[in-house]
Amino acid sequence: QTYVAIMAGGIGSRFWPASRTNYPKQFLDILNTGKTLIQATYDRFAAFIPAENIFVVTSNEYINIVKKQLPQLPLQNILGEPSRKNTAPCIAYISYKLYQLDPQASLIIAPSDHLILDPVAFNKVCLEALGFVREHNALITLGIKPSYPNTGYGYIQYEQQTVSDNVYKVKTFTEKPNLEQAKMFIATGEFLWNAGIFVWQVKNVISAFEKYLPEMYDVFEAEKSHFNTTEEWPALQRIYPLCTNISIDFGIMEKADNVYVIPSSFGWSDLGSWNSAWENLEKDYMHNASGGGNVIVFDTHRCMIQTPNDKLVVLQGMEDYIVVDTNDVLLICKREKEQDIKEYVAEIKRNK
Ligand code: GDD
Ligand code: MG
Repeated sequence: QTYVAIMAGGIGSRFWPASRTNYPKQFLDILNTGKTLIQATYDRFAAFIPAENIFVVTSNEYINIVKKQLPQLPLQNILGEPSRKNTAPCIAYISYKLYQLDPQASLIIAPSDHLILDPVAFNKVCLEALGFVREHNALITLGIKPSYPNTGYGYIQYEQQTVSDNVYKVKTFTEKPNLEQAKMFIATGEFLWNAGIFVWQVKNVISAFEKYLPEMYDVFEAEKSHFNTTEEWPALQRIYPLCTNISIDFGIMEKADNVYVIPSSFGWSDLGSWNSAWENLEKDYMHNASGGGNVIVFDTHRCMIQTPNDKLVVLQGMEDYIVVDTNDVLLICKREKEQDIKEYVAEIKRNK
C-alpha cells in the first residue's frame, strides 16, 4: 500500500509574528487563498491517496489544530510527538508504525508548508517515484531547478544518464551549504534544490537508519513492539529524549548511496519567508503585496504587508519593507533583513 506522511511539527520562525510557536505557519493561510498551507497539502494528496492512508506527524501540542483544520482525516492518523527533534525521528516514527502494518509499504514524505502551483504535475511525479521505489531499493527525492544561491536548501548533484524515465542517480547531496558553496553549485548547472519531498519503501528507509543513524535505529528497535498498541505514547516518551535532534537531510540523505532524484517542475515554492510570500502574491502597481488586511498606501513601494482585517493601516513613504501587524505584535523590518527575523525572535525570547 501507499501512504503519505505530512510533517507538521516545525515552528516557521521566519514568518514571525504571523507564525507563532503555538500556531505556526503551516496552519496559516499565508497567501490568502482560502486554505491554510496544511489544508492545501492534504488536498494535493487526497486527490490520489485515500484519507485512511494519509498521516500527519506533528508536535503533540498541535494535535487539536490539525483536528480542526483537517476534519476529514481519521483521528488515529494524527500522530503527536512528545518533543521537537527535527525530521529524522519524525520519519523513523511513522516508518516503524507503517512497517508493522505493511512491510511492503511505500511512503511519500512531505512538508506541510510549501506552495505547489500545479497539483496535476505534482501527482504525476509522485506516481512516477512510487513506481520506481516499488522496484528498487531507492530513496527518491524530488529536485527543483534552482534560481539563486539560497543557503537554506539541500543541493543535489546528479548523474547525467537516467536510470529509468526521469529518475537519476544522485552523486552528492549537500544540506544547507554556505553561500560560497551555493554560488558554486548554481554556477556549474549540475545541481538541483531538494524540495524536501521524499518517496521510498519504509523497509528501505529503516535500513538507512540502521546504517547512518544507528543509535536512533537501536532506540526505535527496542520499543517497536509497542507501536500500534495502547503503549505507543509511553514508548514515544521513552524514545524521544534519547533521539538526537537531526534532520533527515543531514542524518541520511547526505550519506546514503542509494539516493535518486526526479527533476520536477510543479510550481514549487518553499514559502520560507515574507519575501517568498511577496514573490507569490499579486502586487499593486507600486509592487506592494498584501496577504490580507485593510491597508491604504501612499508613495509606498515593494512592501510586503499583512495586517488584521478589522484595523485600517495607512502607510506613507515606505520602500522595501515588511509590515506585519497582529493582535499583540507589530513588525516593521527591511525586506533585505528578513533572514534576521529568526534572531530577533530568539533575542525576544531570551529577554522575556
Ligand atoms: N513532525 C515534525 N517534527 N515535523 C517537523 C519537525 C519535527 O520535529 N521539524 C520540522 N518539521 C516539519 C516542518 O513543519 C516542515 O514542514 C518540514 O518538516 C521540513 O522542516 P523545515 O524545518 O522547514 O526544513 P528546512 O526548510 O530547513 O529544510 C528542508 O526543506 C528544504 C526545502 O524547503 C530540507 O529538506 C532541505 O534540504 C530542503 O531544501
Ligand atoms: Mg522549510
